[in-house]
Amino acid sequence: MYSKLEKLYATCFPDKTHKWTENDFRDLKKSGCEIIVGENSFIVWRVSVDEAEIISIGVAPTARRTGTATALLQLMERDAKKNGVKNIFLEVDDANLPAIQLYQKFGFKNTGIRPHYYENRHNAIIMTKEI
Ligand SMILES: CC(C)(COP(=O)(O)OP(=O)(O)OC[C@H]1O[C@@H](n2cnc3c(N)ncnc32)[C@H](O)[C@@H]1OP(=O)(O)O)[C@@H](O)C(=O)NCCC(=O)NCCS
Repeated sequence: MYSKLEKLYATCFPDKTHKWTENDFRDLKKSGCEIIVGENSFIVWRVSVDEAEIISIGVAPTARRTGTATALLQLMERDAKKNGVKNIFLEVDDANLPAIQLYQKFGFKNTGIRPHYYENRHNAIIMTKEI
């Protein structure tokens, strides 16, 4: 599972300087994160009391625009709800329009901004969804 995640991460985020490795994913799991990994996609999230944070989500380029990310968000949301989560949040690069549109379509709203947050100096938009 972890070597699959490392490969998927590199495929989904080719431009990132620091690519998450098998060990990064292992550490995330050890620290309490939930992970779903499929043939072409993955999602990582963390629950803290009644809040869940989406840490990362990716779909391989060949599998995009077929509803895969939406299906992962649905699975994650269902699991979070079962565990008492009331609010989901995430951070997204303000230049990442595919992701922003995915989250908006899934019911997330912009609730904040972290200026120059990423290594490319782009702002992070904070998005949240009540469930
Ligand atoms: C963002 C990402 C996860 C979307 O995955 P996906 O499986 O293609 O998304 P879906 O098929 O579920 O798309 C759902 C909706 O999101 C929006 N969307 C997805 N990709 C889009 C794009 N390239 N341009 C515009 N809107 C897009 C659309 O509204 C789409 O609905 P539609 O296809 O009916 O128009 C995928 O592009 C990806 O892995 N990108 C690289 C990694 C990344 O940026 N992750 C997010 C980090 S915060």
